[in-house]
Amino acid sequence: MPLLDAAGALLARMTLDEKIGQLNLLAAGEGLATGAAGETQLGARLDAGSVGAIFGTKSLASARAMQERALAGSRLGIPLFFAEDVIHGHRTVFPLPIALACSWNMDLVEETAAFAAAEAASEGLHQVYAPMVDVARDPRWGRVAESPGEDPLLASRYAAAMTHGFQGRDPASPGRVAACLKHFVAYGATQSGRDYDNASLAWEDLFEVYLPPFAAGIAAGAVSVMAAFNAVNKLPMHAHGPLIEGWLRGAAGFGGLVVSDYTGVQELTAHGLGTPAEVVARALHAGIDMDMVGEDFLRELPALAKGGITSAECGLSLAPGEVERLIDRACLRVLSFKAWLGLLDDPFRGLDGRQPAPDRKLGHALARKAAAESAVLLKNAGVLPLAPKGRIALIGPLVEDRLNMIGTWSVSGDARNIVTLRDAIAARPDVTLTTSRGADIVDLPWFAQRLNVHGETVTRDPRGSEAMLAEAVAAARAAEIAIVAIGEAREQAGESSSVLAPEIPASQRRLVAALAETGTPLVVLVFAGRPLALGPIADQADALIYAWHGGIAGPEGVADLVFGDAEPSGRLSVSLPLHPGEVPLHYSVEPTGRPFPGQFAKFRTGWLDLDDALLPRPFPFGFGIGYSAVRYAPPQVSSRVAQGEDGRIELLVAVSNTGDRQTVETVQLYISDPVARITRPGRLLKDFRRIALAPGETREVTFEITVGMLTYPIAPALDSVTEVWDPGCFQLHVGPNSRDTQTVEITWQA
Ligand code: NOJ
Repeated sequence: MPLLDAAGALLARMTLDEKIGQLNLLAAGEGLATGAAGETQLGARLDAGSVGAIFGTKSLASARAMQERALAGSRLGIPLFFAEDVIHGHRTVFPLPIALACSWNMDLVEETAAFAAAEAASEGLHQVYAPMVDVARDPRWGRVAESPGEDPLLASRYAAAMTHGFQGRDPASPGRVAACLKHFVAYGATQSGRDYDNASLAWEDLFEVYLPPFAAGIAAGAVSVMAAFNAVNKLPMHAHGPLIEGWLRGAAGFGGLVVSDYTGVQELTAHGLGTPAEVVARALHAGIDMDMVGEDFLRELPALAKGGITSAECGLSLAPGEVERLIDRACLRVLSFKAWLGLLDDPFRGLDGRQPAPDRKLGHALARKAAAESAVLLKNAGVLPLAPKGRIALIGPLVEDRLNMIGTWSVSGDARNIVTLRDAIAARPDVTLTTSRGADIVDLPWFAQRLNVHGETVTRDPRGSEAMLAEAVAAARAAEIAIVAIGEAREQAGESSSVLAPEIPASQRRLVAALAETGTPLVVLVFAGRPLALGPIADQADALIYAWHGGIAGPEGVADLVFGDAEPSGRLSVSLPLHPGEVPLHYSVEPTGRPFPGQFAKFRTGWLDLDDALLPRPFPFGFGIGYSAVRYAPPQVSSRVAQGEDGRIELLVAVSNTGDRQTVETVQLYISDPVARITRPGRLLKDFRRIALAPGETREVTFEITVGMLTYPIAPALDSVTEVWDPGCFQLHVGPNSRDTQTVEITWQA
């Protein structure tokens, strides 16, 4: 029997209570607060946050036992499915998503997701709450760490690669899991960068920036989606029928499961959307199929199904039969999901211990490669790569750190497996190493306490800042090279970790300044979860690498770059702010009537107290350098004129490695539409190509330009979007980043 028929046949035999039970998902190990029929009534379990609480080799047995109880207690023998947050790896933790996106290497992204899927599947997990595909343009928002960055095209490619990696061609095949695209939608457009806050934006921005990564994940076959906590243009996403049932299931053709975020249904009450009964009715009606943890579906749906609901205050009227129909709709989706996962045929899929976990050593090697490819070399005044010998002073609060280096949302990783930066560098046999802390990771004691609520990752040195600084300066003076590792603690970037000022803390800035004064060549490594304003650090450093939080092999991957065992190839997936107040931030800003630079000295778009000398931005989106030198020849086009919807133009650029090391160059194509019926972004990334170049080698890269790259949405309302393009002049910009491009003008006729 085809899968959906199997789910439908099952549904037809279920009682109302059994159907409602399937719509709930509870944290592992927890009983129902509602005290209803117990876990046998549930649809699924998740294990968020508690490392190895039920899974892992030791506890696969308890997951199996949970499934056995569920089957025994369920009249129709309906199995649970198990879900988990596998955000950037499972046991083997890879670099943060924001970092991995900096690799611009979608094969690598896919490989990490496939490895994570194999680890997760071997422990009985069926669904992972990833990829997070929220475009993020505000460095204050802590969940920038989990995002693929500021650009819709890069985020879309990332969404597709992650989905392919998790699911392969079939989420039920061995070693694969179901992907869950999240958070639907515009969670990254939160006001003032505050987590969970609402988003108000032009519908055009929604269609052009925030929805495309979801469309790409769906096109790649993602079988589940998680709703976002925020409201979009006044309507909270857990009640956003027009976006869930309308766009997602309608326009985007999504046929899978929509889960709420953690207690997201009941939070609609706090959003001001009604009583528990009202918000449950609204969420179900909007298309939320499963209620994560809150148990509100369990509590409210039985009565709603009996009596229906009418609420003038909420503009809501559902007859009992309509509620039942909605319960059936959601339940069928849960059952279909289980069918896709192969659970209706084999409830113990993944729980029998027969799917071997992949080799951790291979995972570690992959994580190390990923860390090296995710780090971005921002500056190198002839210092790097270092010869693996001599006296090195290794300074900074993260030098001996494991817990922070792994990064946020690494719930199943074990930071004890991390080789510290000190050990990674000391592994080079001819290096003499002195280490010194130099500064604390955060300046304020209360801030340290706040970061430690889930375990102590942030410590403060009792010696105080002056003593630490003096020791570090002496170490740098006595060394031939000083390397300083600065940045953020793991919990400084992540969920509910918004900050007012995304910048390197004052004491670390002071440390770098003091080290630079010693005259010893200074290599600065930034380990962080968000793009931080670096202030004068970039000038003070002789070499600068933005290394992010690199996961289980982060420090080793960065050490490989420092000593030239790996070639730097990372490119920023987000622009680095010049100042912490310069937010939100992205390269594709729209022009204004009073641009800067321009004719106006003061009356211009910008900030009065931002020093003009800092512009143009040194580290824009797409930026990153290698150890070799790359030259772009003037781009050529097959024609300067194209016509009609089927027109094509080829842009060709020859790229040469003029240095003496092999390198990987990411050739980026941006397009702008200087005159259109509405204001268009200054430029938008439309394609990119990563190419390996041997010393002296030249390669030609060809981009095909189609009308699809010129279109944009006009959307006076959510339900009236039209994709249009404006015949006339377009500019093609090609180059190594979003700033340093060469431009060709073309004309596209109607
Ligand atoms: C809340 C987070 O927003 C979401 O990303 C995560 O998947 C769930 N909690 C489950 O842990």
